[in-house]
Amino acid sequence: MNLHVLTLPGDGIGVEVTRQAVRVLETVCRKFHHSLRLTEGLLGGVAIHQTGEPFPEQTARLALEADATLMGAVGAPEFDDWPPEKRPERGLLAIRKVLGVYANLRPVRAYKALLDSSPLKNDRVEGADLIIVRELNGGIYYGTPRGISGSGDEERGLNTMTYTRAEIARVARVGFHLARQRRKKLASVDKSNVLETSQLWRRVVNEVAAEFPDVTLEHILVDNCAMQLILNPRRFDVLVMENMFGDILSDEGAVLAGSIGMLPSASLGEKKPSGVWVGLYEPVHGSAPDIAGQDKANPLGAIGSVAAMLEYSFGLTQEAAAVNAAIEAVLDAGLVTADLKPKGTPLTCSQVGEAVCDRIQS
Ligand code: IPM
Ligand code: MG
Repeated sequence: MNLHVLTLPGDGIGVEVTRQAVRVLETVCRKFHHSLRLTEGLLGGVAIHQTGEPFPEQTARLALEADATLMGAVGAPEFDDWPPEKRPERGLLAIRKVLGVYANLRPVRAYKALLDSSPLKNDRVEGADLIIVRELNGGIYYGTPRGISGSGDEERGLNTMTYTRAEIARVARVGFHLARQRRKKLASVDKSNVLETSQLWRRVVNEVAAEFPDVTLEHILVDNCAMQLILNPRRFDVLVMENMFGDILSDEGAVLAGSIGMLPSASLGEKKPSGVWVGLYEPVHGSAPDIAGQDKANPLGAIGSVAAMLEYSFGLTQEAAAVNAAIEAVLDAGLVTADLKPKGTPLTCSQVGEAVCDRIQS
């Protein structure tokens, strides 16, 4: 198979974790005889420095041409005082929109080898295995009107949470389809006791449920869900929710996995005429400026994102399984970075990348 992949390392540790993820991708392609074409583009703070824009047009073109995009992370403290529309993060929001990747899959697994890294009691976390499906193209992140206006005591910030029936139905279907391939349980998360968007959300999800009689649907309020994720994570299989709820709850999910550095993500849009799914793959973590450039970051979230790319964009399930098995093997061998609190000396980011590659080759 021919794989054409765009990499957008971005800022901070994005650069170093993407380097290891690319190494893993190259190793898989060599082993399974696929031909890999890599292009690299600019996104985030590095793009602002070089072009004045967080999401230059050239990057949009490259992303639309590639079969799939692998991203590192965006953001840097030097932009903290900049207005939202100029910040590196705006580049990320723009590429999600341009690619039309509306379903963000964030799997959370409590790996056996990492149970002690979670600050939660082992018996709570053990066996947790869930996927958060976060709506990624709508809601309060993109709604208009928005802005800050007026002055003095009357100065006002405004954001709008908005969803159409079509936006809700398409992401709900992704949730149902995933649940069907797993333990056949879908939890739809909302705040329908307060918000109209959530009331429509619940109604549309109930309608879509009729297409999936084999999947058990429950509705859960977002505040209760935040609590249940910590109290009893095993009760969840697939969860589907609007954009901002998903942003918040997926960071909470990171606690179950032991470290946010572990979490991969896949953002999926429509199927291209060539048969591949449009996909943007990125670790859930941010650019971590405090440890950037020190080769300390955990690359496993980025490497897990490569596995997701192989599976979802290219349908290469065997190759994806090989990457996931290698991740599990390095965890079991205790070959991990400092965030996972190993018993011995922590490995560097590149050593972990190398260890994963070794296991794929063997
Ligand atoms: C995430 C991040 C982004 C988001 C930021 C960097 C814009 O927190 O991917 O979860 O809020 O979507
Ligand atoms: Mg987030």
